[in-house]
Amino acid sequence: MGLCVVGTGYVGLVTCAGLADLGNQVIGVDANPEKVAQLQRGEIPFYEPGLKELVDRHRDRNLSFTSDLKAGVERSEVIFIAVGTPVDEHGEADLSAVRAVASGIGRALNGAKLVVVKSTVPVGMGDLILGLIAEQNTRHFPVGVVSNPEFLREGSAVHDFLQPDRIVIGAERSEDADRLRELYQPLQAEVLVTNRRTAEMIKYASNAFLATKVSFINELARLCGAVGAEIGAVARGMGMDHRIGGAYLNAGLGFGGSCLPKDMRALVRAAEQNGQEARLLKAVLEVNQQQLLWLGQRLAALIGPLAGKTLAVLGLAFKPETDDLRESPALAATQQFLAQGARVQAYDPAAMPKARALLPGASFAQDAYAAAEGADALLVFTEWNEFKEMDLPRIKAKMRGSVLVDGRNLIDPIRAKTLGFTYCGVGRD
Ligand code: UGA
Repeated sequence: MGLCVVGTGYVGLVTCAGLADLGNQVIGVDANPEKVAQLQRGEIPFYEPGLKELVDRHRDRNLSFTSDLKAGVERSEVIFIAVGTPVDEHGEADLSAVRAVASGIGRALNGAKLVVVKSTVPVGMGDLILGLIAEQNTRHFPVGVVSNPEFLREGSAVHDFLQPDRIVIGAERSEDADRLRELYQPLQAEVLVTNRRTAEMIKYASNAFLATKVSFINELARLCGAVGAEIGAVARGMGMDHRIGGAYLNAGLGFGGSCLPKDMRALVRAAEQNGQEARLLKAVLEVNQQQLLWLGQRLAALIGPLAGKTLAVLGLAFKPETDDLRESPALAATQQFLAQGARVQAYDPAAMPKARALLPGASFAQDAYAAAEGADALLVFTEWNEFKEMDLPRIKAKMRGSVLVDGRNLIDPIRAKTLGFTYCGVGRD
């Protein structure tokens, strides 16, 4: 099938490569010609394990890139919209890119098309997209618009595309749902077909639930710390109950990234616009913000005022296996420390090139050991595997102080204490 994917960010590019891998002829369209040139050369603009290999396998065979939306649409039967939908601090989504693409598709129509919305859009946006296309559809070609939300995680996006837990298709016409079902058939995944608005809501509901689990466990972690319980075992004990499940119960610095915080704010806003108060969702966001304040207080209690102190920060990305710093709690905490006059020596296996501009005043080390040199405290902020396997005695020998703040509960507290660290985890000491 001739397919076109508009937008080559995380979701778009993974979708391009994944659909090409399923044997389709795919054209990736991006408005940014520099980005297109990069992709044509086989350069991936961000770090995502396995993506380059997949793109390389299909590039110049059944995967190509262009900045010409019209050409992409004309040569395709199915068009995926995967452009960004950033939201402002009030949760209001900027839908200008989606609108522009919808109108552009309408102008380029040369036959019947199916438009598949992968971008996370407010509930009801599918209707608007259909309207914008219809405005330009002067020759009245049959066009269907379906919602097909994406559930891939950064860091395991390729795996998530090729082995999804489920595929949600929100369609108003059964033939549109059947078309998309057929396209995904090689994945042999469970498919749920709903109406369009329900599918749009499933996306928000899923991310909101994951965020709720994280804030729930973080709030309990603080309580565990106060009453002498151990959060890791509490989470395991809860997770063994299949009704609860163990995923997304790792206490830490809180959730970040380009999706969970943004989608939570958008959902709160949507509730308000519909005359409802989203009390639980607001609390989830609040708990997430408090987590960083709490961390700052714990650190200050251990080493005193931060001015003039040297802090070794291990991990800046919002989670491992990505260089994404968007709404990263690790980055926000580090910025707080710098503002308080601390000297920061940071190390992240992938995110340092992007972090330099965002952390003026910090110095960047070539590995964890160099970051630990002369540090009063060591802070582990992202659960990269290499931090799990660090040579702790070597780290300790490099440091001036002995405080170890384990913001992701990565290091065994007993081992750390035996080595002479003053250990502080999240809900376990
Ligand atoms: C999230 C969803 O998991 C995907 O299903 C969805 O497709 C994606 O958003 C999206 O909307 O595009 P992602 O942003 O890649 O994916 O991040 P997650 O892996 O879900 O992690 C989110 C944050 O929660 C991270 O900061 C992570 O460190 C934190 N987290 C996660 C915890 O603190 N504890 C946990 O137990 C799990």
